[in-house]
Amino acid sequence: MKFALTVIVLAFLGLQCTTTARTPQTNENQKNNNTKNQFTMETTNKFEFPALPYSYDALEPYIDKLTLEIHHGKHHKAYYDNFVAAIKGTEMESMDILDIFNKMSKFPMAVRNNGGGYYNHTFYWEGMRAPGSGLPTGKLSDAIKKEFNSFDEFKKQFSEAGKTRFGSGWAWLSLDEKGKLFISSTPNQDNPLMDLAEKKGTPLLVMDVWEHAYYLKYQNKRPDYIEAFWNVVNWEEVAKRYERALSQVSK
Ligand SMILES: [Fe+2]
Repeated sequence: MKFALTVIVLAFLGLQCTTTARTPQTNENQKNNNTKNQFTMETTNKFEFPALPYSYDALEPYIDKLTLEIHHGKHHKAYYDNFVAAIKGTEMESMDILDIFNKMSKFPMAVRNNGGGYYNHTFYWEGMRAPGSGLPTGKLSDAIKKEFNSFDEFKKQFSEAGKTRFGSGWAWLSLDEKGKLFISSTPNQDNPLMDLAEKKGTPLLVMDVWEHAYYLKYQNKRPDYIEAFWNVVNWEEVAKRYERALSQVSK
């Protein structure tokens, strides 16, 4: 009897711990949660729809709550659902996302568009944080200065890549196979990891320049959204991505 009672108490405590761990964070907690660095999509074939790493209003006033709600909850979710449907029953179900991108030209357009949309948005969310992100520091800062002469020049070129992308797409900062930084832009939901990318590389920072990323607040003024974007870049996360990518290059 005593043993049974102990088992019940332990089970209850275990349940409490599990429940606590899974309790959603409050808005305030999420708003200040800039330490998350669990971008696991690249190493798992268990495709899941990610929660935002912060609350919907965390990027205000630069990216508004309604835009984030629709962008994440509707657009991103639709890419995810369509991607899962497109790979169902195919060899891609057991591949990880990098393998799929590596062989993208062999797969249907639905996988390219929706797999790209699924990955790119997850990467975009995790590259942002509550305003006040400042400037890159350490090795990343040195590499940016080495490649672009100054942070301002880098910012100008990256912004230009976003401004001049005709129609819908993305602006990227990536690392090439020689460990060199480069800026590019991709149309639609393509990205630099795809075998059909104009210039292949490992993404470090991305900016969504589809109208759905800014239209509610900025209407047709894409340059205003781009200027605002710099206030919410998570340079800490970008620096981690840079060090990770660099260690792969030197292997
Ligand atoms: Fe988007």
